[in-house]
Amino acid sequence: PIIRRADYQVPDWLVPTITLDVDLDPAATRVRATLEVARNGTHARALVLDGDGLEPLAVRVDGANADWHLQDGDLVVQLSGDTHLVETEVVIAPERNTQLMGLYASSGLLCTQCEAQGFRRITFFPDRPDVLSRYHVRMAADAERFPVLLANGDPVAAGLLDDGRHWAEWNDPFPKPCYLFALVAGDLQANRDTFVTRSGREVELGIWVRAADLAKTDHALHALKTSMKWDEDVYGREYDLDVFNIVAVDDFNFGAMENKGLNIFNSRYILADPDTATDYDYDGIAAVVAHEYFHNWSGNRVTCRDWFQLSLKEGFTVFRDQGFSADQGSAAVKRIEDVRGLRAAQFPEDAGPLAHPVRPDEYIEISNFYTATIYNKGAEVIRMMATLLGPQRFRAGSDLYFQRFDGTAATVEDFVSCMEEAGDIDLAQFRRWYTQAGTPRVTAQLRHEPGSARAQLSLAQAVPPTPGQPHKEPMVLPLRLKLFGGETGRALTEEQLVTLTDPAAEVTFDGLAERPVLSINRGFSAPVIIDAARTPADLAFLSAHDDDPFARYEAMQQLMLDTLVLSVATGRADHRAVVEAVGNTLRDAALDHAFVAEAVLLPSESFIGDQLAQVDPDAIFRAREALRAELGTALEREWRAAYDATEANRFEYSPAAKGDRRLRSVALGYIAASGANDAAALAFRQFERADNMTDRQGALVTLAGGTSDERVAALDIFYNRYSDNPLVLDKWFQVQALSQRDDTADTVAELARHRDFTLANPNRARALVGAFSVNQRAFHERSGRGYRFLADQLLALDKLNPQTAAKLLPPLGRWKRFDPARAALMRAELERLLAVPGLSKDMFEQASKSLD
Ligand code: ARG
Ligand code: ZN
Repeated sequence: PIIRRADYQVPDWLVPTITLDVDLDPAATRVRATLEVARNGTHARALVLDGDGLEPLAVRVDGANADWHLQDGDLVVQLSGDTHLVETEVVIAPERNTQLMGLYASSGLLCTQCEAQGFRRITFFPDRPDVLSRYHVRMAADAERFPVLLANGDPVAAGLLDDGRHWAEWNDPFPKPCYLFALVAGDLQANRDTFVTRSGREVELGIWVRAADLAKTDHALHALKTSMKWDEDVYGREYDLDVFNIVAVDDFNFGAMENKGLNIFNSRYILADPDTATDYDYDGIAAVVAHEYFHNWSGNRVTCRDWFQLSLKEGFTVFRDQGFSADQGSAAVKRIEDVRGLRAAQFPEDAGPLAHPVRPDEYIEISNFYTATIYNKGAEVIRMMATLLGPQRFRAGSDLYFQRFDGTAATVEDFVSCMEEAGDIDLAQFRRWYTQAGTPRVTAQLRHEPGSARAQLSLAQAVPPTPGQPHKEPMVLPLRLKLFGGETGRALTEEQLVTLTDPAAEVTFDGLAERPVLSINRGFSAPVIIDAARTPADLAFLSAHDDDPFARYEAMQQLMLDTLVLSVATGRADHRAVVEAVGNTLRDAALDHAFVAEAVLLPSESFIGDQLAQVDPDAIFRAREALRAELGTALEREWRAAYDATEANRFEYSPAAKGDRRLRSVALGYIAASGANDAAALAFRQFERADNMTDRQGALVTLAGGTSDERVAALDIFYNRYSDNPLVLDKWFQVQALSQRDDTADTVAELARHRDFTLANPNRARALVGAFSVNQRAFHERSGRGYRFLADQLLALDKLNPQTAAKLLPPLGRWKRFDPARAALMRAELERLLAVPGLSKDMFEQASKSLD
C-alpha cells in the first residue's frame, strides 16, 4: 500500500500518558502497557493500535474485558466514551529479532530502536509521530546479566527482587512520540561527567559501554560537552533533563538514534583510540554525537507531524552538525568534505530512479526514505535559507520556530513560515526546493571584449525531469560569485550574491581593469551543477588565486574532471594543466595540509561517470589511473617532500596533525602510482611504524591496491592484530572490497565466505557488500558477476534485516547509466529479486522503482 502525504488526517485518538511495565528476558519479554486514551474530536471511530508481529495476551478497557479484534496485525478496540484506560499485554523475543527494529539483543545486551516504526513491534500503540505521550517505564531483569537498566528521562526508583532479578523506574516529563522511546539493559560501565547549562542546571552525563571499551569513550564524551555548549552559544538551546545517557551497541541499522535523554549509538560512532580509529572516525564520532544531541531541540522538543516531514528534523539537524564541525577545525575543509559527500551520494540519487523531493509525496516503506536527499540535500536547503536571510535573521527565524512549536509535531511549512516571518522575506518560490526533485543545472557564460571595461554574465537554469515529475518550474538559486583579473589575479569585484529566480538572467559588470575570470557558486552556495565552460588555463589560475578556499578546490576539481572526461572520450589526454596546478598547490607553503590533501585528490571514478552520457567503467578507470601515474611521476619530488615533511614523532589529535596525516597518505598513494620501486617498502614501513590507525590504514589502502608481497603480509598482520575488534575488522573487509586490483570481485566472493563475515551485523554487511557495490570498476565487471553477487547478498539479508538490505540496493538500480549489455544484466538481477516470494516491502519498493 502506498502512503500519501495528501491523505494526512489528525489522529482519531490521543494518548496523553503511557505506563510500560517491561519484564525483560532475551527469549521472552513480557510487555504490559497502560494507555490513557482520549478521543480527538467528535467521531465515532474505534481505537486502532498499530502492531507488528504481536499477539495480545490480554486486552482490558477500564479494568474489564474489552471488545477487540486484530486486523492486519493491528489491535482494534471498540470504545464508547471519550477517555478510557486501555491495558494490553504481549510477549516478545528480543533474541530472535534480526531486523534490529523494536526490542533486540546485541552482544549480550538488550536495547531498542523505534524510529521510524519499531515501537509497534514492542507494544500496541498509535505509532505515528503526532501522538505525543508522557512515558512512565518500569523495567525488570536478571541482576547479574543486566545490572544496568536505562530508559528515557530521569531515574525515579530502583530495587531488588527476591528471585535474582532487579527493577528500575524511569519517568520522562516531556511528551514525546513513540519513535523516541528507548530502553537498554546490560552489563555496562559508564564514562561519567557533568555539564552545567548556562542557566545552572547540572546534567549527569554517561557514555555506557562494555567495561573493556571504557578507555575508548573520552573522545565521544568530550564531543558531547562541546556540542552542549555550542548549541547554547550558537542557537541559544539548552538541555532540559538532569541526565543525558548514550549507549553504544554493536548491531545497529544506521549511525545513531536521538531517543529523549537516552541516545543509542552504533559503536562505530562512539569508540575511538589512536590505535583503532582513524581521524575520519574521530571526526565522524564528533559529528554524530553532536547530531544526536542537537536533535534534542530539532527533533524532540519540536518533532515531525508525519514522516513526510522527516527533513524538518534531519535536514535542519545535519545543517546544525555541519556548523558545529566547521567550528571545531577548518571550515573550508569541512565544506569540501560535505560537498564531496553530497556529490557521491545525493546527486546520483537525484539523477536516478529513486529520486524524490526533500519532502516526499508518497512512500511504501518509510525506512527507505532515510536518504541523502532528506538528510544532505535537506541540509543544503536550510543552508540556502541561512544565506538568503543572513546570520541574524536566520537565528531569529530559528528562535521563532523553537518558541512557537515547542512541544508540538510540526511541518516543513511551519519552519519555512518562521523563516519568512522573522526574515521578512518571501519564500514562496523557494519552497520548490521541498517539492521538486532533481539537481538543477546552471549554465554560466561570461562575455568580455578584449580591452573593454564591461563584462556580461548570462545565467540559465534547468531542473531535469525525475520520476513522476516530467516538468519543472525554475528554482531560487543563491549564487555567490566574484570576478578575478586574468592577468594579475587581483579581485576585480567584491563577492556578490546573485539570486537566480528566472529561467535565465543577465548580470553586467563595469569598471573592469583587465580580462575577468569567473568564480561562481563559491562555498557551494547552491546545491547545483554548474556548467561554466572555463578554459583549463582559467581553472588552473583560479585553483591558485581564488580567495575562497572552496572555490580553489572546486576549480581544481573542475580542471581534473574536464581533463578526465576528455581523456575517457578520446582515449588521449593532455595532462599538463593538471600537473602544473597540482604542482603549484603542493609548492604553496601558505596552504594548510588538510586543504592541500583535499585539493590534489582526483575525482572518484563514479563522479567522473556522472559527467558522461554513458558510464564506461573500464575507460574511466584507465583514464584516471593514467592521470594518477602522470601526477605521481611528474611531481615525484614534491610528493616525497610532502611525505617527509609530514612525518610525526608522536600521535596528536589536532587539526594540524590531522592535516599532516591526511597529506601523508595522499602523497604515499601518488608515490605508489608513480611506479617507484621503493613504494611498497615505503608503505610497509609506514604500516609497521605507525602509532595510529590513520597512518596504518592509509598504508594498508596503498598496499591493498597493489601486487607486492608486502600486500599479503600487511593484510595478515592487520587481521591478526585486530581479530577481536569488530570495528577494525570492518576496515579489513572494506579496504579489500574497495581495492583497485583486477581480482577484487574474486576476493570479495571469497571474503563473503570468511568465518568473520556475517550479514547479521549491519556494519559488517556494509563493509563488504556496501563497499564492493560502490567500487565502480569491480562491481560493474562486464560478466555481471558483481550484480549477481549483490543480488544474492540482498536476498539473504532481506530475510534477516529488510531495512538494511534495501539500503544496499541502489547501485543495482543505476542501469540506465550503463551500456545495453550491462543494463540488461542489472535489470535481470532486479527482476530476479522481484520474483522471490516473500520479499520484504522495503526491498519491493526499491527494486520495483528501480526497474521503472
Ligand atoms: N533519527 C536518526 C538520526 O538521524 C536516524 C534514524 C534512522 N531510522 C531509520 N529507519 N533508518 O539521527
Ligand atoms: Zn538525525
